[in-house]
Amino acid sequence: MSMKPIVAIDGPAAAGKGTLARRLAATLHLPYLDTGLLYRAVGRRVLETGGDPSDAVSAESAARALEPADLDRNDLRGPQADAAAASVASITGVRAALLDFQRDFAVRDGAVLDGRDIGTVIFPNAPAKLFVTASLAERARRRWLELRAKGMEADIATVEADMRQRDAKDAARAAAPLKAAADACLLDTSEMDAEAAFQAALAFIRTRIDLI
Ligand code: C5P
Repeated sequence: MSMKPIVAIDGPAAAGKGTLARRLAATLHLPYLDTGLLYRAVGRRVLETGGDPSDAVSAESAARALEPADLDRNDLRGPQADAAAASVASITGVRAALLDFQRDFAVRDGAVLDGRDIGTVIFPNAPAKLFVTASLAERARRRWLELRAKGMEADIATVEADMRQRDAKDAARAAAPLKAAADACLLDTSEMDAEAAFQAALAFIRTRIDLI
């Protein structure tokens, strides 16, 4: 078992991982890392040089050049960034280049990290792992509401179709596919609001980590 309080949160797109992870981190006084931003930032770097995010050479060199400030870019959301992230994320060299960044982030104080392979690959010894999911229709509805709140025009059927495709790509890839770790607590938030999901997650974490 890891000595650091590491909370690994994995799951498909728009399952509520980010909201949950951020609140858990604040409550547990742990640093928080949204690992999806790493893949999004790599995808953006490739796109801005006119490259193809599915090209292994361009994507890996973008991943090696990644700097922490890239995570603060304001163009990491939206359909184009989603697709570019999923493309670079299926490249083994990209994942290898981002591995140390993720491990180093948690090395000193522990952390809450959310992503697709935190409990399976990045921190297989994390004491607390959650796999957060929800039905495709509900996740698409949440993402659609998010996009609308940001003033982005979106058609819910297109959002659902894009999400289905991205989840399938994440789950089918050979490199660190999206899947629940054998020892993860499964949290289906289809019928839960954010508060219920938070309470359920915290109750589980308390069974795994000694909290103050
Ligand atoms: O979590 P988010 O939707 O921001 O992730 C964007 C994409 O980055 C995912 O669809 C997935 O392809 C990739 N990703 C990943 N591993 C992670 C986090 C994200 O492959 N740990």
